[in-house]
Amino acid sequence: MKLGVNIDHIAVLREARRCGDPSPIDALLPSMLGGADQITIHLREDRRHIQDDDAKKIVELSRLPVNIECAVESSIIDIICDLRPQRATLVPEKRKEVTTEGGLDLIRTSDALKKATRRLKERGIAVSYFIDPCEEGVRLSKEYGADMVEFHTGRYANLYLMLYSNLSRTHHSVKELDMDRTNLEVEIKKELGKLSECSKLAKSIGLDVAAGHGLNYQNVFDIAAIEEIEELNIGQSIVARSVFVGFERAVREMKELVCKNRK
Ligand code: PXP
Repeated sequence: MKLGVNIDHIAVLREARRCGDPSPIDALLPSMLGGADQITIHLREDRRHIQDDDAKKIVELSRLPVNIECAVESSIIDIICDLRPQRATLVPEKRKEVTTEGGLDLIRTSDALKKATRRLKERGIAVSYFIDPCEEGVRLSKEYGADMVEFHTGRYANLYLMLYSNLSRTHHSVKELDMDRTNLEVEIKKELGKLSECSKLAKSIGLDVAAGHGLNYQNVFDIAAIEEIEELNIGQSIVARSVFVGFERAVREMKELVCKNRK
């Protein structure tokens, strides 16, 4: 199982003060030493965390492959085409969201998606689509030319959080979370079932399979156990843990967890 370490949250902390540290560049070496297989960043249109200069330096300096998440928006695609990371992951983006909520709408944005995919691939950049686990999304991703899909695990993570933590329900905007314990357990199983079925389908039609969003040291096991998922992109929980144990160790612990029980 490959681990992509999403280092955006280091820049979130920096941008809170705009004082230059901590720098996401300084996470490159400890990520590699901790066993990461990839560096993931999200160059958002509003530049609320990663800045253009970060992205440039990360692509230049990283010894690990770089995966840049970005919106399906031509001015951002221009930048990614110039930067030429190993992979671009196309994601939906809304200004007001706290983080990426839900996967791409492959019907409504079909023309823009196909165009962005074509342009990126012409520059030798592999293309992944961040989608919800649904069969139609997988089939359309293949049809539009994606090389890979990354399944959005946010709903699974939110359900898990509600079941196993004592966080206030008002902390979350997901309406399904107003459920009792039994329903939460049922919904978690359903979500894992969907992720597993869609991963099988994606693999069977020649797409590489990744997953991510909201995964942490508690909830990652059942996702990592899905055989067809080859890569997990994890950020917030690793950066949060690194505050207490250091970045290299936080990455290593996650890498060990995601590789447990895998062939
Ligand atoms: N994968 C994608 C496509 C994302 O947008 C994000 C969040 O930026 C992640 C993975 C990582 O999510 P988290 O920070 O919750 O681990």
